[in-house]
Amino acid sequence: MDISTDRNDIDSWTEVTLIYNSALKQISTKLEILNDEFQHVHRYNPIEHIKSRIKTPESIVKKLRKYEKESTIQNMVKYVNDIAGIRVICSFTSDIYQIAEMISNQSDISVISVKDYIVNPKPSGYKSYHMLVTVPVYLSDRIENAKVEIQIRTVAMDFWASLEHKIHYKFEGNAPDHIREQLVECSKIVSNLDTRMLNLNKEIQQLEGE
Ligand code: GTP
Ligand code: MG
Repeated sequence: MDISTDRNDIDSWTEVTLIYNSALKQISTKLEILNDEFQHVHRYNPIEHIKSRIKTPESIVKKLRKYEKESTIQNMVKYVNDIAGIRVICSFTSDIYQIAEMISNQSDISVISVKDYIVNPKPSGYKSYHMLVTVPVYLSDRIENAKVEIQIRTVAMDFWASLEHKIHYKFEGNAPDHIREQLVECSKIVSNLDTRMLNLNKEIQQLEGE
């Protein structure tokens, strides 16, 4: 069978949206299946919820400008890695690594890169597990491998990231020192909470197993 992949065939915004939306649907379905199976085997759901979005044309253009690239469809597809983004919110830190592994083990998914901001938090205090993957999208005449950025984090990390994002936006990246310091402080509380909740859960599971 003559299958061509990675061609520069995406030539309009409508097509970009179609392909990336399909990629998001596929990853969402995969995650839902894993969650259902996990419920079946382990009697609990590692995933609390999933959010996905397509980057707006405005922010794609902004990013290309940052990279000093012309705003063309080809450059978008080549340089902007988070046109399709999916966020997976879990209860416990251990769930994050299990989900990441289950995703990487799927034969049609290629993991391009991983950034573990849980082991290495950003100076802001940001914690999350990022994976850049590609998933094949089957079109009528070809297959396109679409990039999807997957962010996996706990409910507590997500709570922190939402507020930090709001503050970052409000001060256009220049929040006063005392606010930044408090955010770093809060991120430590988040880590502590995540560890304690995980340990509590382990203790409960042990009791249930006895
Ligand atoms: P961009 O941040 O998209 O330019 O790409 P990058 O190569 O720097 O990737 P990175 O993995 O650092 O960040 C990708 C995404 O993670 C961002 O678009 C945000 O959604 C999220 N993110 C990264 N850093 C922070 C942070 O300090 N605070 C918050 N709230 N979100 C962050
Ligand atoms: Mg960044």
